[in-house]
Amino acid sequence: MSKPAVSPAFVQQLNFLARDASNESAALQAAFSLGLLDKLPRGPGAVPVSLEALARQLGANARGVRAVIEPLVGLGFVRLEEVRGYSLADATAAFLAQDAFTARLRDVLAWWHVVAKLPEAVRTGGPVDGRDLLGWYRALFLEPSPPAPGPEAEDFHDRFARNFARTQALVTAAELGLLARLVESSAPKATLAAELGAHPEGLGVLLGVLATLDVTREEDGRWGFTESAARMLDATSLPYFQRALPATMAYWEAFGHLDEAVREHRFRLDLRQPETARRIYQENASRISSIFASHLRLSRKAAELVGSMRSLAGARVLDVGTGSGVWGAAFGLAATTTHVTYLDSPHVLDAVRPHLTKLKLEARSRLWEGDCLTVDYGEAEYDVILLPQIIPALPPEALPGFFAKLARALRPGGLLLISGYLLTDRRDGPLDALYFSLRRYVSNEGDVLSLPEFRALLTPVGLSSARGFDMPIQQVVVAHRGDVAWPVVPSAAVTAA
Ligand SMILES: C[S@@+](CC[C@H](N)C(=O)[O-])C[C@H]1O[C@@H](n2cnc3c(N)ncnc32)[C@H](O)[C@@H]1O
Repeated sequence: MSKPAVSPAFVQQLNFLARDASNESAALQAAFSLGLLDKLPRGPGAVPVSLEALARQLGANARGVRAVIEPLVGLGFVRLEEVRGYSLADATAAFLAQDAFTARLRDVLAWWHVVAKLPEAVRTGGPVDGRDLLGWYRALFLEPSPPAPGPEAEDFHDRFARNFARTQALVTAAELGLLARLVESSAPKATLAAELGAHPEGLGVLLGVLATLDVTREEDGRWGFTESAARMLDATSLPYFQRALPATMAYWEAFGHLDEAVREHRFRLDLRQPETARRIYQENASRISSIFASHLRLSRKAAELVGSMRSLAGARVLDVGTGSGVWGAAFGLAATTTHVTYLDSPHVLDAVRPHLTKLKLEARSRLWEGDCLTVDYGEAEYDVILLPQIIPALPPEALPGFFAKLARALRPGGLLLISGYLLTDRRDGPLDALYFSLRRYVSNEGDVLSLPEFRALLTPVGLSSARGFDMPIQQVVVAHRGDVAWPVVPSAAVTAA
């Protein structure tokens, strides 16, 4: 008999906790500690404030303020009116006027860096940095909370105070080997503690918090996975799920200083520093390499889309910021006569070679070591240029010159394909794209853009025709000079014509 399907809502929630929940807490906490919420107009007749004016009032940079405020708009706590700007939603204004409630929020701010030490607290059962972290978790998750002044306040507090703590509970469960142990079988708490080198009391708190997430449950004195968790986290899928957690932790310290990044434009994790970029991108390429096969299925869909617009026979393809090489390889496989150039920095290209060998693509491949912002792409060299998830890694001010060089390198009938997150035209969603964008900001990287923003960059360099398409997981923007016919695809697959 086949296994019953796991509920999509449970999968979505657990993936949110692994990837985005701590970013959400960080945005709300930074908005609060920067005094951004206090500066927003409120009440009847309030005149919205522009981003620039808000940044000036805060003595902060506009890009940082925008990165923090956009998720709050997406969540409905802040209102955005086209052209005029931002104001506080009525419900937010009402609960922020309650001193007892804001005092509860203020108390949470001191815990960000301590929460990162939950693994230590669970192992020792004692305080960390002189603070009773286990007691704090107990009060937040396992004991009755003081009532919030209304459902919106409760929701705000939950995202502000509990979401990052939930993420850390999952990180700790993975780090201690608890999730892998529960894949095997349930066991009494004392047995699990002894096997995993944890303190029974610390482990008890962790198991209890995971129970509030519907991940664990206790039955007849034994702790195990719930049915939902057992379906989602089996021996095959657990490593895939756990892979998101170290990436989340790589940004933890930086998010603890998000307010400082917004106010002072100083970054604790600065990917414009070559050594830091090298470390993070190398980890990234090896993480993507380990899920190469499933990513290849996605990138091949994009190759099919391009193949439906123009022949790929004999096409010269350039993959800029290739990472594991998974996008270029999809075009290499799309026709037996395509030739693909994979451009990235030398240490990242090391991860590409084994994939090309395995797929027997070496003879039709060129590995190009270089900085995509400074290399010479030449004129009319490529039929297809791929920009898979690279735009958010580049400084926004470099994009006009970058697109001008790429447009020059594109042959007549050529296509430029950009993949990754695409924001709504108002930049108020989707939320996961806004959290991804916030991560880019806090690591001094680039920006996530909307289709109108891409068009504003592409039209001046002659790529006057651009459309967005929905692909599994991601979106792509395809652009050309108006000399290629658009494919006939179901309208649901076209994000914006
Ligand atoms: C987020 S990864 C995307 C990897 C791959 N394209 C994918 O979609 O899986 C961004 C890649 O861009 C590369 N990159 C960032 N800045 C670059 C630059 N200035 N020149 C060349 N490559 C760069 C990084 O090394 C990294 O491999």
